[in-house]
Amino acid sequence: MTIINKIIDGKMYARKLLEEIYPLSKGFLDNFNRKPSLTVIQVGDNPASRIYVKNKILTAKKNGIESKEILLASDVSEDELIHHISILNKNENVDGILVQLPLPKHISEKKIINIIDSSKDVDGFHPINLGKLFMGDSKFIPCTPLGCLYILKHEIGDIKGKNAVIVGRSNIVGKPMASLLLSSDCSVTITHSRTKNIQEHTRKADILIVAVGIPEMIDEKFIKPGAIVIDVGINRLETKTRDNISNKGVLVGDVKFEKVLKIAKKITPVPGGVGPMTIACLMHNTIKAAYINKKIDFVNVLEGIL
Ligand code: GUN
Repeated sequence: MTIINKIIDGKMYARKLLEEIYPLSKGFLDNFNRKPSLTVIQVGDNPASRIYVKNKILTAKKNGIESKEILLASDVSEDELIHHISILNKNENVDGILVQLPLPKHISEKKIINIIDSSKDVDGFHPINLGKLFMGDSKFIPCTPLGCLYILKHEIGDIKGKNAVIVGRSNIVGKPMASLLLSSDCSVTITHSRTKNIQEHTRKADILIVAVGIPEMIDEKFIKPGAIVIDVGINRLETKTRDNISNKGVLVGDVKFEKVLKIAKKITPVPGGVGPMTIACLMHNTIKAAYINKKIDFVNVLEGIL
């Protein structure tokens, strides 16, 4: 296999999913005289979050979804943020609500996630939605793990019985990813910052999912030859010019791409791998929320995946 064939095209998969869901957003507009709608709240001006939020808003607009952004100052109180969410919860023309994370330290993320109406929780972070996922009865599945599963099912087909190893145990990626892979009959290992000899685990992985947030931590020594490697990390490495002026820097994942590319069967690049799929899955969840809001059946375009 040539090297180029080993690189998984996340943008292509994102386009495919967006094409699959477009008829559902169009159908919603035809029936209800308004588009499915998403409101994104950002607190503060974290530059990485600004880029993610802009991409979400823009992709929604391009795909027949009404999108709105609420930008709040970094010193906004927890009560004021809760007040904004309560208004959106009650607004029947708002289908999906997303509060961009991380939040400033003085605001409890747990509390905020709990306040969002679980039927509008397009991130799938509310305890009801995570609980449903873990019981195999999902409603909204967190977008990044869902995007990873979409890629895996299209790349491998049946993943039954595969050894899947996850590096990272966050509520957003690691834990829900483990649940999805278990439901697909993989044998799942979760490793994390306190795991001893991580390589002993990762070298057994047919499927390796890395979501640890450490730039290029995973090199070729962690990889079983022929593994499928999904890199969830997005890290901006600041670079300096010769005059010692820092510029915008390069984006790298949690995987040393060039090294691992030589050993893995397939690998997602950064950028252009998991990132676009996360956003496409958010669009899917938003349209699903709109159908739930109107209490009508949602044609499950991901039936073959889950
Ligand atoms: N921050 C990083 N990823 C995400 C995500 O998927 N959703 C939200 N709300 N915040 C994030």
